[in-house]
Amino acid sequence: MSEIITTYALSKRYGDRAVVEDVDLHVPEGCVYGFLGPNGSGKSTTMKMLLSLVRPTSGEITLMGRPVVPQTRHELLAHVGSLIEAPPAYLHLTGGENLRLVQRLLGLDETQVQAAARTVRLQDQLDKKVRDYSLGMKQRLGIAMALARRPRLLVLDEPTNGLDPAGIEEIRELLRALADDGVTVMVSSHLLGEIDRTANVLGIIDGGRLIFQGTREELLTRTTPDVLVDTFDPDRALALSRTRQANRASRVGDSVRVPGLDPDGTARLVRELVGAGVGVHGVRRREQSLEDVFIDLTGGGRTL
Ligand SMILES: Nc1ncnc2c1ncn2[C@@H]1O[C@H](COP(=O)(O)OP(=O)(O)OP(=O)(O)O)[C@@H](O)[C@H]1O
Ligand SMILES: [Mg+2]
Repeated sequence: MSEIITTYALSKRYGDRAVVEDVDLHVPEGCVYGFLGPNGSGKSTTMKMLLSLVRPTSGEITLMGRPVVPQTRHELLAHVGSLIEAPPAYLHLTGGENLRLVQRLLGLDETQVQAAARTVRLQDQLDKKVRDYSLGMKQRLGIAMALARRPRLLVLDEPTNGLDPAGIEEIRELLRALADDGVTVMVSSHLLGEIDRTANVLGIIDGGRLIFQGTREELLTRTTPDVLVDTFDPDRALALSRTRQANRASRVGDSVRVPGLDPDGTARLVRELVGAGVGVHGVRRREQSLEDVFIDLTGGGRTL
């Protein structure tokens, strides 16, 4: 599969502080790439480097198979639409007027901006001033402005930020529809739940370093699931689990949850509990959430 974005050791330093370090992105063409990381982890900086809005300190960027250098930059970025931080529209103009500005600026024809407005389902709201739009409508207008040029790649920095659940779902549906149309979408978020099911490839950045890249399934296999032990004596079971196996064990109802146990560890724990006279009547593997995996990947103590 060809890659629409590839970076090699992409890095950015501000003074002596590294905010993005040795990031090797591999974004396959046609996917929705979810770029996840906590606040301040370097998502926006990385995306701005991809768009030539921030100059990398070192490293290389290849878009659509061609290195981004001064001679190719303009031509390559003509195929890229983006929405970085706040929606770029003029508030005192209507949605339609904003789109016409983009149309003139980029020399597009009318049908292109109309199609973009339909894609984000704003075609009936174009006579309204943007100041009277909801946040979700503003985000959708921003995406329409990015889409008008019919990009091969769309780079969206936290498009669901501040939206209510219905607004988030609308953006999700829109991203899926775009991917079905063959547009590659790179979308960032600091909330796993917002894009995990929309994205088919995930990149996770923490402290400027890419700590995971791959499919959702690959991510889930990277860690061992938690085990729930159902017992007649949860207090003793918890105390024993903590001393023998894991000090992060916790009580869940009448069960004890032991984080990150592989099959051998599970067998050992059950043996020890039964050996100590604690009745065990069930052992279950807990379904792992991406949040759990993230906490494992970052060594615990951090949440996304
Ligand atoms: N122009 C700048 N000068 C100095 N430091 C900067 C600059 N831009 C960003 N940083 C720092 O780089 C780090 C990464 O910032 P960045 O905006 O890329 O993170 P982010 O992952 O997008 O965070 P958020 O989820 O809050 O949007 C932060 O600590 C930020 O303070
Ligand atoms: Mg950001």
